[in-house]
Amino acid sequence: MCGIVGYIGSREAYPILINGLRRLEYRGYDSAGVALVDGSGSLNVFKCKGKVADLEKFTEGKDISGTVGIAHTRWATHGEPNDVNAHPHYSGSGNIAMIHNGIIENYSVVREALSEHGFTFRSATDTEVLVQLIEYIRDSNQCSLLEAVRTALKQVVGAYAIVVVEKDNPDEVIAARKSSPLVVGIGDGEYFLASDATPIVEYTDKVVYVGDGEIAHIRRGGELKIVNLDNEESEIDIRKLELSINQLEKGGYPHFMLKEIHEQPRTIVDCTRGRISPDGRDVILSGVIANKDKFLGARRIIIVACGTSWHAALIGERAIEEMCRIPVEVEYSSEFRYKNPVLSPDDVVIAISQSGETADTLAAVELARGAGAFIFGICNVVGSSIARATDSGAYIHVGPEIGVASTKAFTGQVTVLTMLALALAKEKGTIDRAKFETVARGLLDMPALIDKVLAQDEKIRDLSKIFTYAHNFIYLGRGYNYPAALEGALKLKEISYIHAEGYPAAEMKHGPIALIDSEMPVVAIAPDDQIYEKTVSNIQEIKARNGKIIAVVSEGNTAIHSMADYCIEVPATPECLSPIVVSVPLQLLAYYIAVNKGRDVDQPRNLAKSVTVE
Ligand code: G6P
Repeated sequence: MCGIVGYIGSREAYPILINGLRRLEYRGYDSAGVALVDGSGSLNVFKCKGKVADLEKFTEGKDISGTVGIAHTRWATHGEPNDVNAHPHYSGSGNIAMIHNGIIENYSVVREALSEHGFTFRSATDTEVLVQLIEYIRDSNQCSLLEAVRTALKQVVGAYAIVVVEKDNPDEVIAARKSSPLVVGIGDGEYFLASDATPIVEYTDKVVYVGDGEIAHIRRGGELKIVNLDNEESEIDIRKLELSINQLEKGGYPHFMLKEIHEQPRTIVDCTRGRISPDGRDVILSGVIANKDKFLGARRIIIVACGTSWHAALIGERAIEEMCRIPVEVEYSSEFRYKNPVLSPDDVVIAISQSGETADTLAAVELARGAGAFIFGICNVVGSSIARATDSGAYIHVGPEIGVASTKAFTGQVTVLTMLALALAKEKGTIDRAKFETVARGLLDMPALIDKVLAQDEKIRDLSKIFTYAHNFIYLGRGYNYPAALEGALKLKEISYIHAEGYPAAEMKHGPIALIDSEMPVVAIAPDDQIYEKTVSNIQEIKARNGKIIAVVSEGNTAIHSMADYCIEVPATPECLSPIVVSVPLQLLAYYIAVNKGRDVDQPRNLAKSVTVE
């Protein structure tokens, strides 16, 4: 979603800002822009619809000098993606420029009030309304820029991360946030600003996460100062970034998504490292053990998440219920937050989020906090808003995920949820030792099993060619693999734009089977499990109606070969772990179909990696 970069220091800002925008491209956007202030009192704003490369072309031959500047990638919310609506926005006089992530909910009221004072607006955005309001306050109160920003923010309702610069004021940058992340990087006599740490990592590892409702006042060569909306100063908490620049590069792969699919053997090792004893006899998730009374005393567990994380939650639900016998409910964060949920202090809420910034999941966490529930986070991005807003948690430790379609984060989330179920079940005494060790060892063996699936990369690429021109796809699974079917379908639609639906296999006969004909590819997930025979019957029902079947089966299964048109074999695992191994070929299938179609795999249209608006 929208991305923010800012710089103030002794270097030319433009290359740093453009580089930063490129690092943020993965978040998804539809226009980009930059504003530069130079010491001679000029403020130059360049912005256009399209990619960062289009912005670079646009600025060729223009005056891009200045040692302070702000830059933005916009994912349209208010107003279509075009040059005018792109950020930065600037005030009527052209003195103040601002970039903004989030939504100002009362912007139309403010806009109307400003119009009555004679203000006119170039764009359809809420952001322009806020920058005009800042200028109005600055001029009418004759106050400092910091004061004008602070006063304006007290008048607006909504979510924001903003960075503001001023034409005649090349030594100062003001930044603020509420419900939308903002990081300040501290260099040597210079400061960097960004909506996540990726644009900062190559310059400094010292960062300050601006708190909710706080304003950062940055002066060239001066100390960083942070105040809240009531002008009370906060302590500066400098953190060390645990992110390396190599993690942000493609490492020889044509796309981040393919790199991330192939990283999974290693990311599962990183995720389980130090958490499962080498003999598989113990699982230690410190956040769970330290709060075991909360978990074991829980009336029920509610898992909130969105997108792929929601699919992981469905798998976690089964694992926790099966192993721990604790009732679990899974909710879309966006639904949960508005349904006036029945919540009490003896509920445990687990929030799952790769980015740790998803606005709806963050809001669900705040709601749960208000009800006194214990909140446990499962995030990837260290120091992210959700990770900080939860009482305790477990990181999935899979490293930065840049491809918009989530892959390694999904398998990491399932891995953490399984470890959580094991750790709790052991404490509660609801799992026998043999089963515990089989599953724990299964996780330790997982990297080698995924390697076996990845060895079929070429075979899956060949298979993908047969289905490049399909218009629809159905994915079927049962039990633990019903969520894997949902996730397989989501991967395909996200990056290839082919319509795809995931369904519990036995539900087909209640409607969707009407769609089956010889034009309909059906991915049937049917590893050897308790319900295998039933799934086979469901596959036969599809076959009888001439559907094209791509079956994902356990290694050595020959029975389905005669029924299916194509088979992908995956190694045997304990049942609860099979969604991990079956997801990998489905990720590859979606990836290669999208590549065959010439899609922008890492930045599919209309999608964002980090969804910071509700
Ligand atoms: C976006 C991303 C998905 C992701 C979802 C939830 O839609 O494109 O890949 O699953 O947000 O994101 P989160 O960061 O909360 O897991």
